[in-house]
Amino acid sequence: MSGHIHIKSPAEIEAMRAACLLAARTLRMAADLVKPGVSTEEINEAVHTYTLEAGAIPAPLNYGGDLSRGVPPFPKSVCTSVNEVVCHGIPSKKEILREGDIINVDVTSVLDGFFGDTSRTFMVGEVAPETKKLVEVTYECMMRGIRAIRPNGRIRDIGAAIEDYAHKFGYGVVREYVGHGIGRTFHEPPQVPHHRAGGANPRLRPGMIFTVEPMINLGTHETALDSRDHWTVRTADGRLSAQFEHTILVTEDGYDILTDWALLD
Ligand code: MF3
Ligand code: CO
Ligand code: CO
Repeated sequence: MSGHIHIKSPAEIEAMRAACLLAARTLRMAADLVKPGVSTEEINEAVHTYTLEAGAIPAPLNYGGDLSRGVPPFPKSVCTSVNEVVCHGIPSKKEILREGDIINVDVTSVLDGFFGDTSRTFMVGEVAPETKKLVEVTYECMMRGIRAIRPNGRIRDIGAAIEDYAHKFGYGVVREYVGHGIGRTFHEPPQVPHHRAGGANPRLRPGMIFTVEPMINLGTHETALDSRDHWTVRTADGRLSAQFEHTILVTEDGYDILTDWALLD
């Protein structure tokens, strides 16, 4: 993911706006399904059908994997990450939402060859105060990261803003999974760390499009990958994790949130 950062043309930006609006609309549709008693597979089926009916493709389905290393491609059309699952949770008929759970639903739609990527963490019924606080602070972390974006600024301004806020609450900021450039490919340069990272720190330019998608943990920032399914990422200490994600365009005078629900009718 290091290397040239593609500056989108006006036509590419219009195509990205459409893909991102579809992802946002799909996520809003999925939000209505989140209730006690619903399985994560029901959310998957709804996202799958909605995406196809819109003439698009669900990007997660059959994404990635490396069969030479025994890693299968992602088997479902959406990621559903419940409670201590940080990201890349696999929907299942056996996983039933219960009152007090939190679930991140991460939708990525491919429309006319362009990817739009967005997620939210939803609370299932009434949740514990500590849980609600984590979800609210994680949303604010994403928004502070986004508000740090300005043309001629730097990519690491984003992680600095996120980390400073998360640490006020003693929360862990996940490091292994980062935001990413997005366009005709799902993941492209630049990498967008959500913590104060070292390494590359490219300047932000109008026409860049990337995600901001902090994963914030109640306890340690450390994660553990499921050795059986090769996808599910959990907190190393088993405590809760929340995440929000928007796809962002850098503009001449700031940024546009391409996956903003306020843009939907
Ligand atoms: N949507 C995730 C992201 O924000 C990536 C999911 S990859 C999958 O980058 F294969 F797990 F779907
Ligand atoms: Co993403
Ligand atoms: Co995503």
